[in-house]
Amino acid sequence: MQSEDIINTIGNMMAKPVKQDHYLVGGVIKRWGGDFQEITTPLSCEGCHKRVIGYSPLLTEKESIEALSSALKAYDNGFGEWPTMTLEGRIACMENLINEMMIIKEEIVALIVIEIAKSLPDAEKEFDRTIKYIQDTIQALKKMDRDSSRPTIQDGIMGQIRRSPLGVVLCMGPFNYPLNETFSTLIPALIMGNTVIVKPPKYGILLYSPLLKVFKRCFPKGVINVIYGDGQTVIPPIMSSGKVNVLAFIGSSKVADTLKKQCPNPHRLKSVLGLEAKNPAIILEDTDLDEAVRECVLGSLSFNGQRCTALKIIFVHKAIRKEFISRFVDKVEKLKVGMSWEPNVSITPLVEDGKINRMKELIDDALSQGGEIMNKDGGACLDTLMNPAVIYPIKKGMMLYDTEQFGPIVPIVQYSSLKEVLSYIADSDYGQQVSIFGRDPAKIAKLIDPLANQVCRVNINSQCQRGPDTFPFTGRKASAEGTLSVSDALRVFSIRSLVAGNTNASNKKIFKDIMNERMSNFLSTDYIF
Ligand code: G3H
Repeated sequence: MQSEDIINTIGNMMAKPVKQDHYLVGGVIKRWGGDFQEITTPLSCEGCHKRVIGYSPLLTEKESIEALSSALKAYDNGFGEWPTMTLEGRIACMENLINEMMIIKEEIVALIVIEIAKSLPDAEKEFDRTIKYIQDTIQALKKMDRDSSRPTIQDGIMGQIRRSPLGVVLCMGPFNYPLNETFSTLIPALIMGNTVIVKPPKYGILLYSPLLKVFKRCFPKGVINVIYGDGQTVIPPIMSSGKVNVLAFIGSSKVADTLKKQCPNPHRLKSVLGLEAKNPAIILEDTDLDEAVRECVLGSLSFNGQRCTALKIIFVHKAIRKEFISRFVDKVEKLKVGMSWEPNVSITPLVEDGKINRMKELIDDALSQGGEIMNKDGGACLDTLMNPAVIYPIKKGMMLYDTEQFGPIVPIVQYSSLKEVLSYIADSDYGQQVSIFGRDPAKIAKLIDPLANQVCRVNINSQCQRGPDTFPFTGRKASAEGTLSVSDALRVFSIRSLVAGNTNASNKKIFKDIMNERMSNFLSTDYIF
């Protein structure tokens, strides 16, 4: 993308609101004639603030039931065109999707920028990562299929084992990665043969507007249905029907619990959840401070700290506390605060309603209990923009000690013994990742073993992160349910099923005839190259 072109596109979009007045159900892009939600940008330009950049339908229970019926019809109890299609057929649809998405890349990137205020390079990265995720998923599926294209014979039984779809999937992604994280469940769910209802996040909705036509062109009727509106209106009818087979939700554990409780037959519901976290960084006494500071600034403040994987609390050894904080603060003070399109910007406006007040509440709570803001102008706000706040000392009893801030606040704790840090992690409600910073392999090794049983990724001298997407991404306790990596996700959205029979002459002939004459897509030795 040429940066001048995309900046012009952003400018045009800021000037003329996007009227998203359609939704996608049953392969039909339907015009919505009811109420609309006004979408404002957190960005400011030419002195204006809270500019309206678009409208999105506030659908009702009726349309959400319509979407559910359409997904059920397309699945047709597993008899539908999509769940019975050959893998090559589904892969061809995905390849079309990639081609069509590439055509509208600039529009999608610009919509991410103006709606959630992600910096332009990060919005572009989100798009590119999503395309790579689809490509990698196709490759992983081919590999998985090659491994299952051979029959197995054991104890006088012959069989062929493959993975089959589960049914109807409800996909709901978060506002911080409105495209990528939604697609990280949507793509594997679809390619495994499920049919899907997508409900975009509360913020990061407008980018779905150009995608509706793409979805309609790339997939058979009813395979993807996209609905909009207030989650509390449109989701309960779907969940309470008991007809959703998989809930794929990335957001808060509180909402995940509410959604699960709406299901009348939870034993039939599989949940794939990416939830909150409070990932700690542990700075050991012998740490290379330059490296630790660089990674901790990135880890705690990329996209304003609005990543589930962000470093949300830093434990620093008391012997190096002063030096670490002084270098950390120095780096934070150099971060550029501004609008998403400005070159080299790091800190951008916060999109969520009431977010600035929530950040102030967390800071005030720490200050009232002896915490101090260590950086110049830390926590200073202008409209939706907030200067990051580095706060020390953070202690038990302060909200910032154990609550996920999901914003530009960096709480720092001093420790004397690693026991204090280990018991913090063991007592935490969360268990996603941890970062250890140090030089001595023996000291690091001593931490790796206990920590690998507390969290699901131990990062060494590196920030916490999800990528690369081929690595497993999950968490313990209130941080996740199910594992998502490119290949794990294919398993999560499918179930192993098999065709088996006694190995006798007549069965052998039946199996052979079916395979040789290519009568079945399931019982087949066909190989996808
Ligand atoms: O918000 C949670 C995301 O999965 C984080 O992904 O580590 O690649 O930013 P990331």
